[in-house]
Amino acid sequence: MTRHLRLGVNIDHVATVRNARGAGYPDPVRAALIAAQTGADGITAHLREDRRHITDADIARLSAELPVPLNLEMAATAEMLDIALRHRPHAACIVPEKREERTTEGGLDAAGQIEALRPFVARLGEAGIRVSLFIEPDERQLDAALQLGAPVVEFHTGRYAELDGDDGAAELRRIAEAAALAAKNGIEPHAGHGLTFANVAPIAAIPQLRELNIGHFLVGEAMFVGLAEAVRGMRAAMDAAR
Ligand code: PXP
Repeated sequence: MTRHLRLGVNIDHVATVRNARGAGYPDPVRAALIAAQTGADGITAHLREDRRHITDADIARLSAELPVPLNLEMAATAEMLDIALRHRPHAACIVPEKREERTTEGGLDAAGQIEALRPFVARLGEAGIRVSLFIEPDERQLDAALQLGAPVVEFHTGRYAELDGDDGAAELRRIAEAAALAAKNGIEPHAGHGLTFANVAPIAAIPQLRELNIGHFLVGEAMFVGLAEAVRGMRAAMDAAR
């Protein structure tokens, strides 16, 4: 039997809608609590340098109120490290960040900045935070994660989500091979970005993967069926694929 695949629900875009009008609603913490009640094993939130969606106050409230683990996505900056060490989330996923990008556009180049990342991985780890690196599914990046001693990697599924046909199948193979290699080396593999009801099954079927982080699609789907129903649907699609 394959092991339970955890679902981390990313609530960033509830905050995007809130911030579009500067009002107090919709509340991402309320969304997180609903997700936690309906099948999310954890909540993921990305505190971006420009605070375009999640704010410092959201992170404080999520840290205080969530009944499930919080995965804080963060850039490797001194400011974000301070915030992570203050709130001590269950996990911190280090992501690349550029101000001008619409979303996280590619994996972290861990291989190209091993020495710069080393103190971040070490300090977060020493604080008892489970460190994950958001990387492309390739051997070079995985080797960097190993050298850094990161216990977890999250493979970027953005390319997979954009491709179809043979190209999509090739990218799926790349993710499956990277997940197997990670597990063989004692690193827990996760995946996420751009996953939807339509494309989640082949990813969820990769046996070594232990967690998927999914946000934008679920928040969009929530407009039509409600968040609880959207999360339940994703949980069912993931379970059916295992
Ligand atoms: N995982 C990571 C590391 C991310 O940066 C994001 C987007 O914030 C996600 C997962 C979720 O991606 P999406 O919102 O496309 O489902």
